[in-house]
Amino acid sequence: MASKGARILVASNRGPVSFALDETGALTAKRGGGGLVSGLSAIGPEADAVWVCSALSDADREAVRRSLDGRLPSDTTGGQRVRMLDIDARVHSDAYNGIANSVLWFVHHMLYQTPLEPVFDAEFRRQWASYEAYNRAFAEALAEEAADGAAVLVQDYHLTLVPRMLRELRPDLRIGHFSHTPWAPPEYFRMLPDDIRARLVWGMLGADRLGFLTWRWAHAFMQCAGEIDGDRIAVGVPGRPGEPGSIEHTDTGRPPLSTTWIGVHGLGADADFLRKRAHQPDVAERMNALRAEIGEGRKTIVRVDRTELSKNIVRGLLAYRELLETWPEWRERVVHVAFAYPSRQDLAVYREYTAEVQRVAEEINATYGTPGWTPVVLHVKDDFARSLAAYRLADVALVNPIRDGMNLVAKEVPVVSDEGCVLVLSREAGAYEELAEDAIAVNPYDVQGTAAALHTALTMPSGDRAEGTKRLADAATALPPTRWFLDQLEALETSG
Ligand code: F6P
Repeated sequence: MASKGARILVASNRGPVSFALDETGALTAKRGGGGLVSGLSAIGPEADAVWVCSALSDADREAVRRSLDGRLPSDTTGGQRVRMLDIDARVHSDAYNGIANSVLWFVHHMLYQTPLEPVFDAEFRRQWASYEAYNRAFAEALAEEAADGAAVLVQDYHLTLVPRMLRELRPDLRIGHFSHTPWAPPEYFRMLPDDIRARLVWGMLGADRLGFLTWRWAHAFMQCAGEIDGDRIAVGVPGRPGEPGSIEHTDTGRPPLSTTWIGVHGLGADADFLRKRAHQPDVAERMNALRAEIGEGRKTIVRVDRTELSKNIVRGLLAYRELLETWPEWRERVVHVAFAYPSRQDLAVYREYTAEVQRVAEEINATYGTPGWTPVVLHVKDDFARSLAAYRLADVALVNPIRDGMNLVAKEVPVVSDEGCVLVLSREAGAYEELAEDAIAVNPYDVQGTAAALHTALTMPSGDRAEGTKRLADAATALPPTRWFLDQLEALETSG
C-alpha cells in the first residue's frame, strides 16, 4: 500500500468538500474555498495529492459510507483525491467541540474569563482521550495513504498530536505541521495541565518542520517548547537563513538528537481570484441591494467575520456607538455594514455571542436610527458574493480581533476595494505584522480608541486613502496561496 500511495498529503479537520442529504436520500457535494484549496491547486493533478479530512455531519458520514474506504468519488471533489474519515460522532464532537474549540482555541486566542475558567476535571480528561483517538485516526489514515518518503502537511490545532503519532508509524515520511492560529504566550499556555502541555509540544515536535503565520506566533511556540523539558528539548538553535529557528530534541534523553525546523509563511490574499470573482454579475446585484440599504451619499464602515469570539464584533459595535456619541456629525452620514456569519453553533458560548451581537446592533438602531437611516446593517446569513460587494463599497474596513492568526479579511478588502478603503486594524491580528504601516492601529479592548480610529479613518482625504490602499494591496498579496503552499513544500523537502 505504502509504495503505491501519494507523494503529497494534506490533513485537516475540515476538508475541501462537504455534503448535504435531501429527503430522497440524494447527496449533494459542496466544494469549499480558502488558502489550502487554492494552494494545493498549484501542484497540479499529476502530483496525485491526497487530502485526508474528517466527516463533519451526518451527510458527510453517509457520503463516506457510500464510498470505498472513505475515498470520495472524484466528481464530488473536482478531481481532488479526498479521503474522508468517518470518526465516531461522539469522539469527533469531544475532540472538535470539546478540546480543539473549547480548550486549544481558547488558550491560543486567550479567551478565558479566568476567575471561573478553565476547569480541567474528569470531563476534560474524558474529552482528551477522544482527542487522542481522533488524532490517531488521522495518523493511521495518513500512514496508509502515503508513498515512501512522501511529504505530509498537517494543519492546525485539531491535529497537534498527529506529527509524532505518524512519525512512529512511518519514520520515512517528511512531516510538516502548519498553525493557522496564534500560539499562546508561555504564561497562558502554562494554564494547561503539565502533562497535556508536554503532549502537545512533543506531538508537534514529531514534525520535521513547523510553520506559523507570523514570527510572533513562531517565537511563542519556541518559548512554550523551551519550558517543557530542558534536558530533552533545546530551543533557539540558530535557524537556517529565512528560518526563525530550530529545536533539537530527544525523547529518549540520549542521542541522536532530532531537529524540528521552525518556519514562517504569512498567507496572502489571492488577488487574481478575488478581483475576477468580485466582478461577476451576482456581486453587482448585491452591491445594488446594499446601496439601497445604506442610502444615498453615506459612508460605510464594513466588517466581515465568522461570528467568532476572537473577532471582537461586540466591541466593534460599541466603538461605532461611541463614534455616534462623540462625533454626532456622523449621524445620518455613516452606516456600519456588519456581516457576522454563523460559526461553531454547537457551542453554547458561540450561540450566546451571536445573540449578543444581534442585541447590541438592534440597540444601536433603536437608539440612533431615524425613518431614513439604519445605523447598523447586520447580516448573519453567509453570502460570499455579498461579502465581496461590501469589500468593494467599503470606505473603512474594521478588523479588530482580540487575537487572530492572520485575518485574511484585512488583506482582501484593499485588493477588491473600488475607491480605496482605510483599514482600521487590531495590533493583535497576525496581518498587522505586514500591514501596520498603512493601517490605523487599534488596541482591540479600547472602545474609545477604536471610535477615534474610525473617526480618523472616515475623515482621511481621498488621495491618501487611495495611495494607502494600493500599498496595502501590494503587501497583502506578497505571498499568494499557491506560493505559500509551494514554499512550505519545498522547505519541508529540503529540511533535515
Ligand atoms: O483559523 C483557524 C481555522 O482552523 C481556519 O483554518 C479555519 O478557517 C477556521 O479556523 C474555521 O474553523 P471551523 O472549521 O471550526 O469552522
